[in-house]
Amino acid sequence: MGIKGEGGNPEIIKTLRKALEHLDIGNGHLISWARAELGARIAALMPGDLEYTVFGVSGGEAVDLAIKVARGFTGRARIISALGGYHGHTGLALAAGDEKYRAPLSICAVAL
Ligand SMILES: Cc1ncc(COP(=O)(O)O)c(C=O)c1O
Repeated sequence: MGIKGEGGNPEIIKTLRKALEHLDIGNGHLISWARAELGARIAALMPGDLEYTVFGVSGGEAVDLAIKVARGFTGRARIISALGGYHGHTGLALAAGDEKYRAPLSICAVAL
């Protein structure tokens, strides 16, 4: 769920404020009944037999996880990404992104 733009969506902000009155979102590394329930609901809505849900804070974090899962599952290291692509500013996402996003941070793409 993303909330971007000036002022945000008033309906989403109102819903989040109401939810925060009784939900403890706590530390993202610890167990949370609210996240567990949301994960189960998401799994029920998805096709197939989804067993895991990972909650991240950014698109880059999601890309990092996707690359790690793909590498772990396939045993392969190489990642193909499109020229000009933006995948986030986290580690693997940045490395898979275009040079124009890496250069300001002095990060080079790694060819394996
Ligand atoms: C498909 C996709 N992946 C990754 C990202 C990176 O997201 P973030 O900047 O929130 O890390 C974006 C953001 O636009 C995106 O659209």
